[in-house]
Amino acid sequence: MQTTHEIHTGDARDAAIPEGVDLVVTSPPYPMVEMWDESFAAQDSAIEAALDDGDGDAAFDRMHAILDAVWERVAAGLRPGGIVAINVGDATRRLGGNYRLYPNHARITETFSELGLVQLPGIVWRKPTNSTAKFMGSGTLPTNAYPTLEHEHILLFRNGGTRSFEPNDPDRYASAFFWEERNEWFSDCWEIRGTRQRTDNGARERSGAFPLELPLRLVRMFSVRGDTVLDPFVGTGTTSVAALFAGRSSVGVESDPDLAGTFFDRIADVPARSRERAAERLAAHEAFVADRDETPEYESVHYDTRVVTKQERSIELLTVESVDVRGESTAVARHEPL
Ligand SMILES: C[S@@+](CC[C@H](N)C(=O)[O-])C[C@H]1O[C@@H](n2cnc3c(N)ncnc32)[C@H](O)[C@@H]1O
Repeated sequence: MQTTHEIHTGDARDAAIPEGVDLVVTSPPYPMVEMWDESFAAQDSAIEAALDDGDGDAAFDRMHAILDAVWERVAAGLRPGGIVAINVGDATRRLGGNYRLYPNHARITETFSELGLVQLPGIVWRKPTNSTAKFMGSGTLPTNAYPTLEHEHILLFRNGGTRSFEPNDPDRYASAFFWEERNEWFSDCWEIRGTRQRTDNGARERSGAFPLELPLRLVRMFSVRGDTVLDPFVGTGTTSVAALFAGRSSVGVESDPDLAGTFFDRIADVPARSRERAAERLAAHEAFVADRDETPEYESVHYDTRVVTKQERSIELLTVESVDVRGESTAVARHEPL
């Protein structure tokens, strides 16, 4: 089996976005979070003026107008039954004398509702923090202290009704997840540690990368092998790496040319890492089976292990056999089962 991975350098508001995308996994620049001010201001000069005037509402609206233009294109390219997963955090900020919340997740939800997508139950990503300075505002005195934001959102939307598959579709059944994975992944609260993505050109501080585990879960939950996953704000390419591990093709768009090549720097060791990860996944399942009081009812077709449900019998854990970079913006991978 073969997958293709493309990274386009450019503005997602007008870059080539493929038709019939099966899944979108992305994390945009977060409006009103200071690290993204410069990026937004470069795309609309009125944003800088609004921030300088202390007009938070105007800055928030204009930043979201940029994202809206991308969401519109994303929704238009999505297959029927295709899913959009957006990781975003809200922002807190003092501007024009007032400290307040800028609810990015609510604003993006509104846009997708206007675009006619169906909202699905979302996930709260709680980032474990060791910070001792948890309070904001006036120390230990009521009433002017504020909760600290320690979570982000993973918003989920679908294009119309559920996706239809042929009965016993082999790609769908091979892409099934183990029972115990399902129980963890489909919880509405995830605790996954954040990450600091290394890049060679010093772009790390402004990359805002999410940990690989996050897009990897989403790709496994909401697509099947051979599907195409789009990330219109691909940054260091984490979504594309996740798609590669999972045996899905990917298309990423990134406006910062210093970041756009990072994906290709990250994939040299993917064949070895993918074998390790697949072996760890199987070992974790075997440990789950060994811990259970009752032996699971069904036998796995491809592995010497048992599974709880009939649907898990055909699971095939894919590894990356090889990955070849072709030209400046494409990689082609060959996959084989563990
Ligand atoms: C939160 S980061 C994404 C990080 C990514 N998930 C990762 O793991 O590296 C948002 C990215 O969107 C990019 N960006 C901002 N505006 C853009 C636009 N109009 N088109 C494409 N990319 C854009 C930024 O340069 C930044 O890399």
